[in-house]
Amino acid sequence: MSTAHPRLFTPVDLRGRTLRNRIVFGAHTANMAEDGLPTERHVAYYRERAMGGAAMLVIEPVPVHAAAVLTRGNFRHSDDGVIPHFRKVTDAVHEHGAVILQQLYHVGQHGDADNSYHPNWSPSGGPSYHDSDGSHAMTEVEIEETIDGYVQAARRCHAAGFDGVEVWAAYHSLLDQFWTPWSNSRDDRWGGSLDNRTRLSREICRRIRAVCGEDFIVGLSVSDEPDFDVMLQTESMSEIVELHDRDALIDYVSCGSGGYLDFYKLMPTFLYPEKLGVQLSQNLKAVVRHALVTAESHIRTPDNAEAVLAAGEADLVSIVRGQIADPHLANKAAEGRAEDIRGCLSCNQMCWGRRSRDYWISCVVNPSVGREWEWGGDRFTPTAAPKKVLVVGGGPAGLEAARAAAERGHAVTLAEATDRLGGAFRLAGLQPRRAQILDLIDWYERQLARLQVRILYNTYLEAEDARAFGADAVVVATGSLPTGTGFQKALPHLSALPGIERGHVWSAEEVMGRAARLGDRVVVVDEGGNWRGCGTAWKLAEDGRQVTLVTPDPLVGKELQRTAADFPLRKRLAELGATFLVESAVCAWSAEGATVVSLLTGAETLVPADDLVIATANAAEDDLARDLARDLDGEVPVHLIGDAAAPRQAPYAIHDGRKVGLAL
Ligand SMILES: Cc1cc2nc3c(=O)[nH]c(=O)nc-3n(C[C@H](O)[C@H](O)[C@H](O)COP(=O)(O)O)c2cc1C
Repeated sequence: MSTAHPRLFTPVDLRGRTLRNRIVFGAHTANMAEDGLPTERHVAYYRERAMGGAAMLVIEPVPVHAAAVLTRGNFRHSDDGVIPHFRKVTDAVHEHGAVILQQLYHVGQHGDADNSYHPNWSPSGGPSYHDSDGSHAMTEVEIEETIDGYVQAARRCHAAGFDGVEVWAAYHSLLDQFWTPWSNSRDDRWGGSLDNRTRLSREICRRIRAVCGEDFIVGLSVSDEPDFDVMLQTESMSEIVELHDRDALIDYVSCGSGGYLDFYKLMPTFLYPEKLGVQLSQNLKAVVRHALVTAESHIRTPDNAEAVLAAGEADLVSIVRGQIADPHLANKAAEGRAEDIRGCLSCNQMCWGRRSRDYWISCVVNPSVGREWEWGGDRFTPTAAPKKVLVVGGGPAGLEAARAAAERGHAVTLAEATDRLGGAFRLAGLQPRRAQILDLIDWYERQLARLQVRILYNTYLEAEDARAFGADAVVVATGSLPTGTGFQKALPHLSALPGIERGHVWSAEEVMGRAARLGDRVVVVDEGGNWRGCGTAWKLAEDGRQVTLVTPDPLVGKELQRTAADFPLRKRLAELGATFLVESAVCAWSAEGATVVSLLTGAETLVPADDLVIATANAAEDDLARDLARDLDGEVPVHLIGDAAAPRQAPYAIHDGRKVGLAL
């Protein structure tokens, strides 16, 4: 048992259950349901986290009413048909010793008509901060109907074997809308005084307890939003929670951050500090007598969690993305192997980034997320026929392929052309605040050392070297390179950028790899809308350069919108004095600077600049694979993965690596 995290691994009682440690896998929409029912994908996803040692899992919320439906993957509301399907989830989790709850949710005015086809319901008809819709001020009858929706959802949970439910009042959801005077201007018994504004949530908790019994856990989730005065501030929130606690209506209260007014803090990326829910949790600790207090939001690691508990700031900690990234986080920490935990990058790229587009969630660093059911969890089955495997290229695809193959017992050699691992992903780790990527590369180095993978550095393999190596299988993960032509998709008639031959034109890779010698005024052309271009521009602006960012998209960081990172990034860039030219492209480069053309009007403007940095789609480095396929003539399988197969973002490279490692 870990001596580094004594408080984290101290059991605690929660309404008659013993939580084996203090680690919660908090509620999040995994969006994996099909036809509104939990699937094998769900069962295996949650089983893996219970197996990995988390004490309590709060699974994906169920909308409590037709007005509460939010995502394509939402579970069915108002249908007892879900019960036997949920039983499979609760059985799988209980089998591995964890307690399991379901969150009950209603977003009130911030609904989504795309999926609900139902008017948004709210206390006083306020607008949605999710889209451009308005809402309907609920009648008494509709309020009663909604209370019943919560109670019936809890009854189904009880029947399906859940240990309890978490009543969602966080992020300015329906219950928070009733609590908050800014969004509740009612003059009936549901508005006005504190008693009236909390009547709905108290009534829901009371009736759930009456229907589900004394040994059923009832939790409450709330959130901290210090940046908007109109939201409940700590003192008011403490008063409300105290009111629920005084009558023992709740067994725990969980504290998140942000909300519909600032979605970016809800699942904070690396642009934010850690432990965002702790400010509120420590205040609530001072007022509650009965309930346990959970701190959530960017706690990430067992060390952070232990620090929160040691400071008396919470009784439990929720680590969501950290356990998406490594489902075995709790056990590894308990066994004193915290260095084996694969760390979350706080990037949101595949968790929120997929949820926000209504796909089931996954993870950049852990491609088994959502595929546990078909890949046998985030674990490896030893091969019956160990092979001699040669992996060429030590970027994310090659690293994951080498690791997965070695975990299965193959004898793996990894050849890397440079003197270090990580490939272009390492360059991303040099962008501001992105050192978690470097931690991940360090993690790979530790894992490959543990698995006795032989690494040949400074080894540029030609086809004949690879053939002479005598492998049973070759994995080609040689990555991709910038085209060097300055071609932009926005100007398809220009196969190369006019004036590129005069120099002072660099790729994002050259900038981040410190190969570029740049003047003070830099134009960055970004056709990706993601971290490659935007993070490079941020680095240049942070270094004091005058940056003009040119993009064909209608906004800078278009692809970062899905990860809830675009606005905070633009804010930082703007604070650093960067200029944005959107719906534009660079049509010529000269000694004076970049000629920027508006895609809207065709007007051309000269932007004086010393250097031009280009972040456009790369070209695959697949020569080795082609030569090998020819030379080996099918005698030895050659697997082409990652950017070498087609230049893409890191998650697909890591996915390719795992997939081939499992298949060898
Ligand atoms: C993909 C995703 C979906 C989420 N959905 C919910 C949700 O349905 N209900 C909720 O209360 N919180 C939701 N959250 C917020 C998490 O519970 C948690 O507060 C947030 O991820 C920050 O904690 P972490 O840093 O440990 O991930 C979601 C987070 C993510 C990443």
